[in-house]
Amino acid sequence: MNEKIISALDLGSGSVKIAIAEVGENEPLVVGFGESISRGIKKGVVVDLDKTSQAIRDAKQKAENMSGKKITSVDVVVSGTHIHSVNNKGTVIISREGREITKDDVRRAEESAKVIMLQPNQEIIHALPRQFIIDEQGGIRNPVGMSGIKLEEEVHIVTGSSTVLRNIKKCVKNADLRVNDFVLHSVASSYAALREEEKELGVVLLDMGAGTTDLIVFSEGNISFTEVFPMAGEYITKDLAYGLKVSLEEAERIKKEYGVVTAEYDDLEGEAEIQDISGSGKNKIPLSKISEIITYRVDEIFENIRFELIKLGEWGNMPAGIVLTGGSANLKGIAKRASEIFETSVRIGKPIGGGVSGDTLTMPQYSGVIGLVKYMVENENLSKRKSFRNWGDFSWLKDILE
Ligand SMILES: Nc1ncnc2c1ncn2[C@@H]1O[C@H](COP(=O)(O)OP(=O)(O)OP(=O)(O)O)[C@@H](O)[C@H]1O
Ligand SMILES: [Mg+2]
Repeated sequence: MNEKIISALDLGSGSVKIAIAEVGENEPLVVGFGESISRGIKKGVVVDLDKTSQAIRDAKQKAENMSGKKITSVDVVVSGTHIHSVNNKGTVIISREGREITKDDVRRAEESAKVIMLQPNQEIIHALPRQFIIDEQGGIRNPVGMSGIKLEEEVHIVTGSSTVLRNIKKCVKNADLRVNDFVLHSVASSYAALREEEKELGVVLLDMGAGTTDLIVFSEGNISFTEVFPMAGEYITKDLAYGLKVSLEEAERIKKEYGVVTAEYDDLEGEAEIQDISGSGKNKIPLSKISEIITYRVDEIFENIRFELIKLGEWGNMPAGIVLTGGSANLKGIAKRASEIFETSVRIGKPIGGGVSGDTLTMPQYSGVIGLVKYMVENENLSKRKSFRNWGDFSWLKDILE
């Protein structure tokens, strides 16, 4: 059997994660994994080249040691407020009389759909197919072989700052790796944490990490919207550090050990022992106080997202509810609180499929990196069509004008 090795890199604000997977005829199998603390990335953007390169090198070394494989290139998960997205439509004429649609027609439709006015210093990361429409008949996934006069393709276009992407490439290169492709965080996570039925019904996925909360909305199986919110677990930790006058490390420990999200924080009994900022003494703090600080911030993040969903008209457009993933989905009580604020069912999304074995990689913080492995396998054919990115070809115009 012809086995191939693929590698996925998730450059998170909390940690850098690398997964190495073997791809054969069956499902991909994750054979190596490495994680290291990230101190050079803030909200998806590299703020320190050396620290980021070092973190990638560490994670790579761990993943290579575990798998016994050497890697040379990676696909990379990206996020941050430099990312913008828009839905667009491309139209091509097949022929006046109608004939069978070929792969080349689909390629022309995609090219036409990718023609948008880019903001300065932005480049296209994805043009994700949403649906094809043949002679006004929509909902088509694969039009090749069907007959028609006019073919339209709706795509979800994601763009990112060229400067940010260039800096990521630089860090990856410093770790002796090459970037194959960038993949939006929420898109990657959706491959690990969502079920097909949920996407068909209509669902919202929130990947709440350390620096960003990445949102993706699916309806009728198609991506309808993506957005990046620059607030997540890091804010909660900082609030605890300020509120309780402890170090960030101690605040992180308190959050993970004692943190509960609940509107009824007043009812919580008991105390936590905490180390004060000077490190000289221990204090006792009521659990209700810890929970109040955490709940206040979580509520604020969810209210912001709720407002955005209402603004977009996506509110109520999610029969399958909300799926919460990313490291902050580990917070106790967060699913219940989310369901109170979003007024819908909420479940915690953990990586499913993608050759994940053991307990560790099925934690919600690995949805991004494991989802990217699945994305790479499922879109292998797409990435082979890289020549699409050649913008010079306007042959489809000729067909229309003929
Ligand atoms: N048990 C836990 N309870 C509460 N929070 C947790 C727990 N485990 C992890 N977290 C939080 O999850 C966050 C890290 O999650 P994740 O690894 O998904 O983020 P990231 O990918 O590094 O960051 P981002 O995607 O935002 O750039 C941290 O803020 C961490 O405090
Ligand atoms: Mg992440």
